[in-house]
Amino acid sequence: MLRHQTARYLFAVMATMLVFAGAQAQKLPNVMILATGGTIAGTGASSTTTVGYTAATVGVQQLIQAVPELAKVANVKGEQVFQIASESMTNEHWLTLGKRVNALLAQADVDGIVITHGTDTMEETAYFLDLVVKSRKPVVLVGAMRPSTALSADGPINLYNAVLLAGSPEAVGKGVLLSLNDQIHAARDVTKTNTSTPDSFKTPELGLMGYIQGGKPFFYRASTRKHTADTEFDIANVNALPQVDIVYGYANMNAVALDAFVAAGAKGIIHAGVGDGSLAARVKPALIAARKKGTIIVRASRVGQGILARNGEANDDELDFVAADTLNPQKARILLMLALTKTSKTAEIQRMFYTY
Ligand code: DGL
Repeated sequence: MLRHQTARYLFAVMATMLVFAGAQAQKLPNVMILATGGTIAGTGASSTTTVGYTAATVGVQQLIQAVPELAKVANVKGEQVFQIASESMTNEHWLTLGKRVNALLAQADVDGIVITHGTDTMEETAYFLDLVVKSRKPVVLVGAMRPSTALSADGPINLYNAVLLAGSPEAVGKGVLLSLNDQIHAARDVTKTNTSTPDSFKTPELGLMGYIQGGKPFFYRASTRKHTADTEFDIANVNALPQVDIVYGYANMNAVALDAFVAAGAKGIIHAGVGDGSLAARVKPALIAARKKGTIIVRASRVGQGILARNGEANDDELDFVAADTLNPQKARILLMLALTKTSKTAEIQRMFYTY
């Protein structure tokens, strides 16, 4: 009799625990982790190898299993979208990733998405998604500056922070976010500033959006530019992005690279000029000739901060060029590619550079 009562009691306890766990799980947000590679999925020869390791070797399920604490902040599922070192990211990767993100965010059972990614081009993928994601749900890019095998690897805590951020109500409607090193950055303005240190990502001058501390996100500012749900760009039926290349400015510059890009069929050129986007005397005629052939020319700056002033160092009205505003050259390229999926009118493209 006693054994029967004990069994019934244990059954009741287990049933209650299962119901409670189920209720808890229901309360937690559903966060998808889309893995693409990078150092966060990297391995080194020893625990002290923090450079010269192999990126993109650890799969998404292993990344999740390495951080059991994720289950306390979200119901996570993982998907390996691709497995590359991010210096090899292509427009095709971006279109695949953007379409997958939009499909998942359209599902009622997905509350947010984390994308694990190499840090080399993370700021670019983040900005591309900022311009094509058709949802207010959080999308957070995360990576690591040290491989998973290193002493004080930063990947696990960065992943934990990114998942809790992607599941937080505070992150809704903020645009695509990038989070490493306990910081929250806006996709449009963040950039990688150091080749190897964990504090590499910064938003110089315009400032980061907030911090993650004690398992909670704290926002102190928001972007003033359009993004995500307010975007006018739609990649649903885009299978290839127009070719746009970047010409880097420097003393003694010539037009060889520019001419080669145009000859190869570039539909747009980002001129990453010195200073406020100044045009070298030896290069300006080639830019004018390219424009006459129909190539869109955007004047940007290699400097990194500040407004690229329209009609400042060149008469953009007369030359029919576009000014990049505060976008760095690699992000100006992304906006121009998407702009060219809708228009080749420079006045319209300039409006887009002042809108996003
Ligand atoms: N190969 C670089 C990349 O995948 C490693 C840098 C990193 O992920 O931190 O972006």
